[in-house]
Amino acid sequence: MTTIIDGKQVAASVIDAVKSAAAALEKDAGVKPGLAVVIVGNDPASHAYVSSKSRMAKECGFTSIQHTLPEETTQEELARLVETLNADESVHGILVQLPLPKHLVSDPIIQSIRPEKDVDGLHVVNAGKVATGDLDGGLVSCTPAGAMVFVRRTHGNDLSGLNAVVIGRSNLFGKPMSALLLAANATVTTAHSRTKDLAAVCRNADILVAAVGRAEMVKADWVKPGATVIDVGINRITTAEGKSRLVGDVAFEDCVKVAGVITPVPGGVGPMTIAMLMANTVIAAYRKAG
Ligand code: GUN
Repeated sequence: MTTIIDGKQVAASVIDAVKSAAAALEKDAGVKPGLAVVIVGNDPASHAYVSSKSRMAKECGFTSIQHTLPEETTQEELARLVETLNADESVHGILVQLPLPKHLVSDPIIQSIRPEKDVDGLHVVNAGKVATGDLDGGLVSCTPAGAMVFVRRTHGNDLSGLNAVVIGRSNLFGKPMSALLLAANATVTTAHSRTKDLAAVCRNADILVAAVGRAEMVKADWVKPGATVIDVGINRITTAEGKSRLVGDVAFEDCVKVAGVITPVPGGVGPMTIAMLMANTVIAAYRKAG
C-alpha cells in the first residue's frame, strides 16, 4: 500500500508547536515574535500567498506586519523599507515576496536583509550555512525544510545508504534541498534540464524530489518501486474537459501505483512552506531573546 502524505496534517502539527513556542516566549521573556511581509505590485498569486502568510502569523500569536507597496516603487524606496525593518527591534523575521516587478533587482534587496531576520533562508550567509552543513546556526529555506520533514518522518534522521535524486537546481529549492539530503548522509544527485537520460537517473532514487515546474513530467516508469516521491511543483493546467486544475511535477495517478510514499498536489509540500516560515520566525525571535 502506498502512503499518501497529508501535508495539511503535518503542517498543522508544526503550527501547533510554533503556537506553543510563541506563547512560552511571550510568557517567559515578554517577547512576541514579529513577522514583516513585504509585497510590491499587483500580482494576484503573490497577493494570495502573502495574505495566507500574514493570516497564519496572526494565528500563531505573532505580530504580523504587511507592507503592500505600489507597482511603481523604486529600488531605493524598497531598500529603505528593508533598512527600517532591519532596525526595528519588534521585527524578528522579514520576507520580501518574490518575484518583484521587472524594474526591481531582487538580489541586492534579499542580501540587504539581516541574516538573522532572513526567515526565507535566501541570504548568502544562510544559504552558505546550509551548504556547509551548519544546520543549527542559520535559517533554512522554508520549502526544502518542509520537504525534509516528510523525508525524516519516512526514513528517520539518517539517510545512510539511500540514493536521493533532486530534479531542479534553483537557489530557492534544488540546491538547498540537495544540501539537506547530503547533510543527512544520503547519496545525492542534483539533476536538471541538461541531465542525460533523466528517467534512468530517477529510477535509481530511493528518494525522488521533483521541482522543475513542468506539469506531470515525472512518469510512473521513472519511479523505483517503493520509492519516496516528493512533488514540489505547482502547475495550473487546463484539462481535456476545459477545466482548470492544479497539478504537480509528478504524474500522480500513475506514480502513486509505484511509489511507497508520495505527496499530493495540492495538499503536500505547499502547506509545509508556510508552516516552516512560522517555525523560522519563532526560532529567530528565540535567538534574539537570547
Ligand atoms: N515566491 C514564491 N515562493 C516564495 C518564497 O518561498 N519566498 C519568497 N520570498 N517569495 C516566494
